[in-house]
Amino acid sequence: MIIETPSKVILFGEHAVVYGYRAISMAIDLTSTIEIKETQEDEIILNLNDLNKSLGLNLNEIKNINPNNFGDFKYCLCAIKNTLDYLNIEPKTGFKINISSKIPISCGLGSSASITIGTIKAVSGFYNKELKDDEIAKLGYMVEKEIQGKASITDTSTITYKGILEIKNNKFRKIKGEFEEFLKNCKFLIVYAEKRKKKTAELVNEVAKIENKDEIFKEIDKVIDEALKIKNKEDFGKLMTKNHELLKKLNISTPKLDRIVDIGNRFGFGAKLTGAGGGGCVIILVNEEKEKELLKELNKEDVRIFNCRMMN
Ligand code: MEV
Repeated sequence: MIIETPSKVILFGEHAVVYGYRAISMAIDLTSTIEIKETQEDEIILNLNDLNKSLGLNLNEIKNINPNNFGDFKYCLCAIKNTLDYLNIEPKTGFKINISSKIPISCGLGSSASITIGTIKAVSGFYNKELKDDEIAKLGYMVEKEIQGKASITDTSTITYKGILEIKNNKFRKIKGEFEEFLKNCKFLIVYAEKRKKKTAELVNEVAKIENKDEIFKEIDKVIDEALKIKNKEDFGKLMTKNHELLKKLNISTPKLDRIVDIGNRFGFGAKLTGAGGGGCVIILVNEEKEKELLKELNKEDVRIFNCRMMN
């Protein structure tokens, strides 16, 4: 069985969401793939194909491990353990899980949540137990909490329910209808500009010290109000850029992110950083008429470029 799972971007409202304002997130078709197969050994074998790493565990070990001791395997192991616990399954036959991912890591795209949700689906599917999205999202959130100590529902919910979500106070609402239809027709580029220089927690702490942050968050909330009503790419792109300008006032952008956003404005409909900032990724709304020039300009920079669309 093969499970393909999306990643996510924040379209609007990063940082504001920490203070009880809304954020709008979107599942994107930059995916991770989890393959699960039965084996003859009494073992659980994990292969991280992109990192060229493997791990073997005896079947009866899985229940008693601390996933946090297993480095790059921790999300996958924690997802296996919690899914088996939740389904009350004592594994009797061995299985092998192969993981590969197109999602750049540690840059706000939810790569670990993608692997977590994919593993939960693969393991439950392997035992012919169909879990509801609510159960999958809850298990995923628990895995992130166990591994990180603290978690937000943003990544695990967006990746489970797909499409567009409004996140507020760690709860979500799925946004359907015209807004979703509009975004289905949008083509985006995710530009991985540079390695993040600071961790999310550090950036969140720095934003906390900004005196007029509440004013800025209110402005971001107005941008979201407008964006939710919009049906044309020009205006939507301008609002993305407006959100970026407001994020700049929170001091979380970098010269390189600003340069990429500028290219996105000149050769696309608009652009913004996405996620916590301090480096990482920019999302650009593509203007298909100027796409060639956009790519030409971006290729002059030392960046990685990913085409993406909403996944639902
Ligand atoms: C990080 O991707 C987004 C932040 O808003 C933090 C969070 O929502 O947990 C900066």
